[in-house]
Amino acid sequence: MINVKELYKSFEKKDVLKGISFKINHGESVAIIGKSGIGKSVLLKHLIGLIQPDSGEVWVEEKLVNTLSFTQLQSVRAQCGMVFQFGALFDSMSVEENIGLALSKLSEMNKEEVTQQISKSLAEVGMENSEKLMPSSLSGGMKKRVGIARAIAIKPKYLLYDEPTTGLDPVMTDSINRLISKIHKQEDVTSIMVTHELRTVFEVAERVIMIHDGKIKFDGTPEQIKLSNDIVVQQFISGNSTLLETEA
Ligand SMILES: Nc1ncnc2c1ncn2[C@@H]1O[C@H](COP(=O)(O)OP(=O)(O)O)[C@@H](O)[C@H]1O
Ligand SMILES: [Mg+2]
Repeated sequence: MINVKELYKSFEKKDVLKGISFKINHGESVAIIGKSGIGKSVLLKHLIGLIQPDSGEVWVEEKLVNTLSFTQLQSVRAQCGMVFQFGALFDSMSVEENIGLALSKLSEMNKEEVTQQISKSLAEVGMENSEKLMPSSLSGGMKKRVGIARAIAIKPKYLLYDEPTTGLDPVMTDSINRLISKIHKQEDVTSIMVTHELRTVFEVAERVIMIHDGKIKFDGTPEQIKLSNDIVVQQFISGNSTLLETEA
């Protein structure tokens, strides 16, 4: 379980998170939404201790993340597969080396197991036999897939995605969304994705948390958010989605 309690975070004079609390149970698939620049990535980074809060608590299972030593943090990160915005692959390393690096840092697999795990993860994201390719030769969608393969390779309990479909065309977005859903169903994981695209929310998430002005504006199901009377929620939804129109 992830338990975030009264999280506050400011940068210089800017108050970004102003008292955020929520719990996420094992097996949930949650989308964290909100306008660009509202603090979604900042929130996600708190979950794996990449950012320290000014006050509040972040619990991952029985560990209070914001008090851990580096070694203890590594054990939390070993449970959390992170798919960063823009893929974040190392350009000078092959696909195999990119995934292998995460595995050697965050798992205790031997060389043979690492090789097997890399090809298994690549197969799972539909990128079999791409071990030797360099990121520069991959399309945007393929880079995202490799980023997802890298995250699932460590066999995480939590999969955290930061804008997994941003910058992709609708066809590619749908195929990444299907992949995220498939992985969520197949593996025994909790999936948390940050996005500002409602297309992804309605296709992938069972629960939506909307952040606005440093606070939680909405926490419920995708069906409930469509029916929300809140003006800010409504504006976000109507200004955002083509999916709603096509469903109407
Ligand atoms: N390391 C940092 N130092 C200073 N300001 C930051 C830092 N990280 C994020 N911010 C600021 O915090 C706000 C929220 O950023 P972010 O979480 O990236 O937004 P988004 O919701 O688009 O993911 C932005 O105003 C951003 O400039
Ligand atoms: Mg962001």
